[in-house]
Amino acid sequence: MKDFAGKTAVITGGGTGMGRELARQLVAEGCNVAMCDLSAEAMAETKRLCEVERLPQGLRITTHVADVSIEDQLIRFRDELIEAQATDKIHLLFNNAGIGGGGSLFTSTREQWEKTFNICWGGVYFGVRTFMPLLLKADEGHIVNTSSVNGFWATVGPGVSHTAYSAAKFAVKGFTEALITDLSLNAPHIKCSVVMPGHIGTSIVSNSRKIQIGAESEALTQNEILATRQRLKGMGIDTAPMSDADIEKIALDRARSFRDEAPTTAAAAAKIILDGVKADRWRILVGDDAHKLDERVRQSPEKAYTSEFYQSYRDEVGWRL
Ligand SMILES: NC(=O)c1ccc[n+]([C@@H]2O[C@H](COP(=O)([O-])OP(=O)(O)OC[C@H]3O[C@@H](n4cnc5c(N)ncnc54)[C@H](O)[C@@H]3O)[C@@H](O)[C@H]2O)c1
Repeated sequence: MKDFAGKTAVITGGGTGMGRELARQLVAEGCNVAMCDLSAEAMAETKRLCEVERLPQGLRITTHVADVSIEDQLIRFRDELIEAQATDKIHLLFNNAGIGGGGSLFTSTREQWEKTFNICWGGVYFGVRTFMPLLLKADEGHIVNTSSVNGFWATVGPGVSHTAYSAAKFAVKGFTEALITDLSLNAPHIKCSVVMPGHIGTSIVSNSRKIQIGAESEALTQNEILATRQRLKGMGIDTAPMSDADIEKIALDRARSFRDEAPTTAAAAAKIILDGVKADRWRILVGDDAHKLDERVRQSPEKAYTSEFYQSYRDEVGWRL
């Protein structure tokens, strides 16, 4: 797809981060956008930012509250879109919504684990199923599924369990790669891409914990304080002398530095993704850190989960997570 003007895009998780920046850049290119998110307020802000520039006559930006892990809510989103955008076709589908958390089979609850897995994997699977009829009606279409570097490297470093997110992101990558053939056989006018970002500066850390606990509060629950202590212990840090307030401060600082000290901004990431779609690339790595990790894992897969591999990679790309 060489340009987006006059087309219609669906974005899941359009409330913040990369989803918001995709919406802004698509609108700036004259593309109609229908987004969903759990947060109506966040989507209202995305819409406001999209409208800061003068919009082309008749361009539509619509917002729809829907949880991507619940198929009925995505179907409702689709029905609302048909009405609000006055169309029965879409050209672009960005399955972008995702959260972290639920890392361990032992220290996370089953609910936490499945929440992360069902959003990161189920959201992509239901998204493709739900919007396929609208993509089939367009003269050209493109599905963009967001995986992660955790779609080919199942860790964020030694000492931290990361099973639910990694399992889901590997599933997204495998599903999207297999879709290349399924689409070419059955719907050749639709292409697809898997997006694998490295560290991108977004609020995913704080958003994920709020979605996991089902509350807006910045204050950590007792269970979260315990989990943070365990995580720090896994990283070789003695938390015994630290008060709960110290632990809470470390967690808040981590969320802030994840957003503010990343090597790639959400806006730069969205541009790389959209350029990848225009160049018809099925495999979109986002950020130098993602490219370097891809090379290193291919070079020495057997060492990928050792401390030496992590330390040497971290030193090369300057990750301070
Ligand atoms: N930020 C990174 O470093 C990074 C790296 C690799 C992959 N990713 C992936 O990129 C995607 C976008 O993440 P981001 O960093 O922009 O995070 P973000 O938290 O800024 O944005 C994600 C958005 O998805 C929404 N969302 C979460 N669960 C949802 C649900 N069940 N239904 C509907 N909306 C939901 C959130 O409310 C939020 O607005 C995610 O799939 C994430 O896993 C992010």
